[in-house]
Amino acid sequence: MASVVVAFELGGRPVEVLVSPLATLQQVLRTQLGHTSVKDGCRQGGCGSCTVLLDGEPVLSCLLPVEDVAGRRVTTLEDLTPVDGLTTVQRAFLDANGFQCGYCTPGMELVTKALLERNPAPTRADIAEALSGNVCRCTGYVPIIAAVEAAAAAGSAAAVVASEGATR
Ligand code: FES
Ligand code: FES
Repeated sequence: MASVVVAFELGGRPVEVLVSPLATLQQVLRTQLGHTSVKDGCRQGGCGSCTVLLDGEPVLSCLLPVEDVAGRRVTTLEDLTPVDGLTTVQRAFLDANGFQCGYCTPGMELVTKALLERNPAPTRADIAEALSGNVCRCTGYVPIIAAVEAAAAAGSAAAVVASEGATR
């Protein structure tokens, strides 16, 4: 099979890449586009460390042929991280000690972002369900769940401040 060109949007910018047959999105992001926040864990769909957002929803990039994302929006943690500082979710993980080795962290934070966008006030059960496909071998999950709760609280507080500002 011949290589093909695949065009998609990565972090809001159009990209075109020449890819080998059967290349996964994970491989292309890491080795051709330099997005190494997308981790190379089990390559079998079992750990969640390769999670990216596809049109805003978490997907396992190790299971996804890159040709399937043609014309779609892909987002990795590189795309979300400000030049200066951290996102609300990143700050919450840092403050809650929501990581140790950090290998699972990009996937955890992208799942958290997607969760809070569709459900700004998740219960613990909602959080556990959302993160159920993401394995952490270090933290025992308690600080990760605390980080998601803190991010949700920070998002709610920011929304209140914004709405109060709008009514003044
Ligand atoms: S590397 Fe994709 S789920 Fe583990
Ligand atoms: S912090 Fe090490 S795997 Fe989660």
